[in-house]
Parts: sequence; C-alpha cells; structure tokens
Amino acid sequence: MEAYDAIITRRSTRKYSEVMPDRELIEKVITAGRYAPSGHNNQTTHFLVFTNKSILAELTEIVKQEFAEMEITEDMYISMKNAVNASKKGVFVFHYNAPVLIVTANQKGYGNAVADSACALENMMIMANSLDLGSCWINQLHWLDENPRIRAFLYKYGLKEEETITAGLVLGYAADGMPDRNALERKGNPVTWVE
Ligand SMILES: Cc1cc2nc3c(=O)[nH]c(=O)nc-3n(C[C@H](O)[C@H](O)[C@H](O)COP(=O)(O)O)c2cc1C
Repeated sequence: MEAYDAIITRRSTRKYSEVMPDRELIEKVITAGRYAPSGHNNQTTHFLVFTNKSILAELTEIVKQEFAEMEITEDMYISMKNAVNASKKGVFVFHYNAPVLIVTANQKGYGNAVADSACALENMMIMANSLDLGSCWINQLHWLDENPRIRAFLYKYGLKEEETITAGLVLGYAADGMPDRNALERKGNPVTWVE
C-alpha cells in the first residue's frame, strides 16, 4: 500500500479478533514506531509490548478498579467521564480486548515526551493499516500515569521510575476481518495557504 493510501484510509479499530498477529508483523509495527523522528534525535521513547492474555486481563482489572474509584468532576474530559462511568458499572475494557497493547513511556520532565511518542504512535498506526491490522490510540494509562497501582504494575514489566507514561496503542486483526478504511470527513483541521 502506498504511504498516501495507508495514511488516508487509517481508522481506529475498537473491535478485535482474538487471533494474535504473527510476531514478524508486530515487530514491523514496532520498528515503524522506533524509526519515528524525535526532538534532538533523543530516541528515548520506550515501547512496552504486552501480548500475554493473563497479564493484559490483570492490567484491565486494575484500570477498571482505579477508574471506578474516581469521582466525576465538571472539568473532566468527556472520554474520561465515560471511562469512569463504565468502570463504576464494571464494564470497562480499556484495550478493547485487542491481543497486543503497546505502552509508550518517555523521560519525566523531557519537553518532547508526548510529541515524540505521538510521532511513534502515528507511524505504528499507519504501518498497521498497511499490514491489514487494526489499531487504536489508547490514552487511559497516560491519564493514570501518576496512579501508584498502575505504576507498580508497569514497573514489573519494564517501566522505569524516571519514565512517564505518554500513550498506548492497541493492535490486532479487526473482528470483521479487515479494518474499516472509510475516512471520516474532514470538517476541521483548517488549512491556510500563504502564497
Ligand atoms: C491523542 C489521542 C488520544 C486518543 N485516545 C483514545 C482512547 O483513549 N480511546 C479510543 O478509543 N480512541 C482514542 N483516540 C482515537 C480517536 O478517538 C480517533 O482517532 C478519532 O475519533 C478519529 O477517528 P479515526 O481514528 O477512526 O479516524 C485517540 C486519538 C488521539 C490522537
């Protein structure tokens, strides 16, 4: 698939098949993330790759419990309100049961931490689409970056104390087979040409 097509047809997938993509495909996606640009060529984005079902189930349970404990406040971002509400009802699965979760982390206090990770995530999402894999940005672990239970859990699997959780990505085959490739109409993202 041409780069332009892979970019234009990329969509977020939120229903996944249980089938684990071949390791070679997962590694291609991670490599695409690792080859993203970084501020001052810092290359400090750390990719934590989870493919173990029971570890993912344990993490899902902790995320649900921690959101269920939160009080909804007026200033809360709508997606976070939804996560809290669903968790209080006991039905929140933050990773949509995708077989692969890639958590990105970066150095605490590094000004380009989230920007670098965003470049990596976009590269990974485009690569996934070109390989007929679905993907979706997953922000819940970023929101819970300072949550002691989440941090303690991730320390067991490679997160370093000096790192901040910047984002997450789920990956896998779409439940329907192929990812949805119908681009959403662009009503925003205006362009101003100055000639
Ligand atoms: C910074 C950022 C955070 C996002 N967080 C989430 C998330 O936590 N869960 C989710 O399902 N989608 C998340 N998304 C995906 C967006 O909802 C999605 O890209 C948007 O609705 C447009 O749909 P499309 O990706 O299918 O084009 C996020 C996207 C970005 C760029």
